[in-house]
Amino acid sequence: MTIIPVPRTAIIVVAAGSGTRLAAGAPKAFVGIDARSVLRHVLEGVFAAAPAQVIVVAPVGLEGDAETELRAAAGERVDLGRVVTGGSTRQQSVAAGLAALWGDIDTVLVHDAARALTPPSQIDAVAAAVTPEVGVIPALPVVDTLKKVASGAVVAAVDRSELAAAQTPQGFPRALLEAAYSAALAGGIEYTDDAALFAAAGHSVRYIDGSPRAFKITTPTDLERARHLLAPSVAASPIPRVGIGTDVHAFGGEGNLWLAGLEWPGEQPLSGHSDGDAVAHAIVDALLGAAGLGDIGEHFGTAHPEYAGAHAEVFLARTRELLTEAGFRIGNVSVQMQGNRPRFSPRRVEAEGVLSAVLGAPVSVTATTTDRLGFPGRGEGISVTAVASVVSSGPTAG
Ligand code: CTP
Ligand code: MG
Repeated sequence: MTIIPVPRTAIIVVAAGSGTRLAAGAPKAFVGIDARSVLRHVLEGVFAAAPAQVIVVAPVGLEGDAETELRAAAGERVDLGRVVTGGSTRQQSVAAGLAALWGDIDTVLVHDAARALTPPSQIDAVAAAVTPEVGVIPALPVVDTLKKVASGAVVAAVDRSELAAAQTPQGFPRALLEAAYSAALAGGIEYTDDAALFAAAGHSVRYIDGSPRAFKITTPTDLERARHLLAPSVAASPIPRVGIGTDVHAFGGEGNLWLAGLEWPGEQPLSGHSDGDAVAHAIVDALLGAAGLGDIGEHFGTAHPEYAGAHAEVFLARTRELLTEAGFRIGNVSVQMQGNRPRFSPRRVEAEGVLSAVLGAPVSVTATTTDRLGFPGRGEGISVTAVASVVSSGPTAG
């Protein structure tokens, strides 16, 4: 048996809600996504993260069922886990979890069981970012256009660039969180999440990037989404999947060309929201398409201003991360560029080296002209096509 040192971090998994909006005939944590329940999935993510005390807060009467799920997910870390009984609000359930912390714990993460597919990397990232004074939440940019409404009327527009959608786990220094909880319970105030309660006690909260996979299962549509993500055809097939991506950019703008992850001094640049690197963009679409994870616009488009001007390595590293989180490994990528400029062959090996290193898989790049036909032939821009293969690396990777 492996001896695990006593951890300094605890994760409270709140699973005591009734799941009224899901209306699946059982408390939400015990509803099956595939052969495994919501609770089992979230605990598998929790136990794949760095070792921590794990406290599962269960609905009254379902403590035994929660214990069974905990044991199944914990494996040899079973001694790190225990089940406590929840309360009638989320805040009371968290308080019940706090009461079960070991003495050595100095960092507490509070996690919704309903975020069943949260990647372990998100749990580790939150834990690593907590300081003795500052709480941390994962958050995603808001993509929808938001309106303030009242009695059927739109009364105001809301600037979404000032907003972020909060996820869990939310991490805090233990002493400050316990004091903030005591104050909230004494004052009889219910907060919507732990960060709001912590901030109301006068403390700072910072955010790190969340993950689309950490979405909360609230409605039947969310449960469908989770089922789709875990469908055997997507995540556990031995058959490689292929994807195709194309990108076209016109020459234009100031500065040097960026193409295939390289800067090309003296060559005319390509125009675009980022650096216009059509080779990188075609590769991103081919990889996302192969894994069934949407497309470049969804993950890197204008709703994500942080990618404006970004170079290939940023896009490709994030794409690799998205695939890993979804349980895929990259097989290979083959790219072809059509255009007159730049002359690619002198730097082919260099470009392939850069692209292969960031993706952790072989990337080959070929280039051709089009016999002066079409826009590439007229020298107006370039066109790139990429084909990628991915294979399943098993569920809950990443
Ligand atoms: N939760 C809890 N104790 C409560 C209420 C909620 O532990 N008294 C937990 C839920 O189990 C869930 C998380 O808090 O993991 C987020 O809550 P929510 O998504 O609202 O879940 P439910 O309250 O179960 O759902 P609903 O509001 O639709 O009834
Ligand atoms: Mg609720």
